Amino acid sequence: MDLGLNNNVAVVAGSSKGLGLATAKVLLAEGAKVVISSRDAANLHKAAENLGNPDNLLTIPADVTKKEDCDGLIQETVAAFNKLDILITNCGGPAPGNFEGLSDAQWDEAIDKSFKSNLYLIRAALPHLKKSETPSILTVTSFTTKQPLPNMILSNSIRSATIGLTKSLSFELGQYNIRVNSILPGWTLTDRVDALLANRAEIHHSSYEAEKASISADIPLNRMGDPMEFGRAAAFLVSPAASFVNGVMLNVDGGIYKGIY
Ligand SMILES: NC(=O)c1ccc[n+]([C@@H]2O[C@H](COP(=O)([O-])OP(=O)(O)OC[C@H]3O[C@@H](n4cnc5c(N)ncnc54)[C@H](OP(=O)(O)O)[C@@H]3O)[C@@H](O)[C@H]2O)c1
Repeated sequence: MDLGLNNNVAVVAGSSKGLGLATAKVLLAEGAKVVISSRDAANLHKAAENLGNPDNLLTIPADVTKKEDCDGLIQETVAAFNKLDILITNCGGPAPGNFEGLSDAQWDEAIDKSFKSNLYLIRAALPHLKKSETPSILTVTSFTTKQPLPNMILSNSIRSATIGLTKSLSFELGQYNIRVNSILPGWTLTDRVDALLANRAEIHHSSYEAEKASISADIPLNRMGDPMEFGRAAAFLVSPAASFVNGVMLNVDGGIYKGIY
């Protein structure tokens, strides 16, 4: 199946590593022009070398918790590629922790990362997406919005606001043909999951491997995900091939979420 991504212009925020980088890789392979972005220029440089395809790839450093950086990311994209068709509002995840161990500053930081970054990016992108023939927005949340995890109260709480935002925008922006969906990833092997496993090992006085094995045993596929498995699902959802898929919260989690809906 042709996803119809050829010559679509995509911004993937938070994409020097992990899920964002894997998504950029799939989009590039499908013929899209892709902007990768993150805070650290050295990380971005390394990612660009890994991706190759310099004619269709641009790197723009941006901290998506800063409104001015989000505005700059979108403006520079349109200046370089003349249009914008796809926005993926990824960012690094919030810190682990429980209610009694987290400060107001940590809550504020998590709200900036996991919620407000979406507002800044979508607001900046909207005028350009309205002009696209194949516009779509993808937010990246977590399966924890459906099945909260212990010691992850920031993610469990704040990402639900992004789910509400995603669904609301799928109603509001339909008049412009803009589709808005979210992926709810679960336990996919990235630097973030490495750090979370190390944190769990410390709390439980166990080891990284023991934590990985115990979580994997709770996943029906009996393993953690590969970032490319997320990347392929993301590329489909934002592509013209998914032209009637709107307002969907798609778990890409190997089935760890145990509910029916
Ligand atoms: N992997 C999973 O299993 C899983 C499961 C559920 C939810 N998620 C969520 O999905 C998102 C991506 O996960 P991941 O595993 O790919 O994370 P990751 O391995 O930590 O990668 C995060 C990426 O975002 C960039 N980034 C971090 N903070 C940023 C900021 N303020 N502005 C712009 N870029 C920023 C990082 O690069 P720089 O450091 O260079 O900025 C990096 O490229 C996270 O929100 C995560 O919590 C992941």
